[in-house]
Amino acid sequence: MKIFLDTANVAELREAVAMGLVDGCTTNPSLIAKEKRPFRPLVEEICSVVPGDVSLEVVATDFEGMVKEGKELAQVAKNVVVKCPLTKDGLKAVKYLSGEGIRINQTLCFSAPQALLSAKAGATYISPFLGRLDDIGAVGMDLIRDICEIYRNYGFKTQVLAASIRNPLHVVDAAKAGAHVCTMPFAVLEMLMKHPLTDIGLKKFLDDWNKSGASI
Ligand code: G3P
Repeated sequence: MKIFLDTANVAELREAVAMGLVDGCTTNPSLIAKEKRPFRPLVEEICSVVPGDVSLEVVATDFEGMVKEGKELAQVAKNVVVKCPLTKDGLKAVKYLSGEGIRINQTLCFSAPQALLSAKAGATYISPFLGRLDDIGAVGMDLIRDICEIYRNYGFKTQVLAASIRNPLHVVDAAKAGAHVCTMPFAVLEMLMKHPLTDIGLKKFLDDWNKSGASI
């Protein structure tokens, strides 16, 4: 499973990329706004730092606007994937832009039928929002499983990108369900590395070593 960072923060991206753990990045208008930087230089820097795909989202909501913005965003760098919302106009834009050779991440997916239509429209990635479904008392992971099963049944090439990830359990369950990609905040990536028994074990090893007076 590929790991993407769900952030527009260049410092976080640089740190995770330097560790060799990041395959790509997803942004959205809220994450971009948080950075308080001019849009174009910010996304150009992100695209140069990240070794793989970088999702940049349109803000237009009508078909013509999404197509216009999608074409502009695709010019930013070769690794750009244009993010379009899962609306009627968004599906139309996915069909059109993917026909033009522009790769699309269809975002704000909350149901299996939405995901089926997105794959038929030719999306490169589908982004089901796990955490936001959990937030309203639904089981977000059921949606990931359903989409993986439907795509497998018909050999759709659209990759399942598990989004709105809040904790390590989401990451493990998405991997077990067969999601192709999991995009997570930097804080969740750090959580994946940590275990209290690792820290306790390391301290014990080093205490014993230091008491022995040995050296390497
Ligand atoms: O980037 C889309 C998605 O991952 C947003 O997550 O935490 O705002 O629900 P969240």
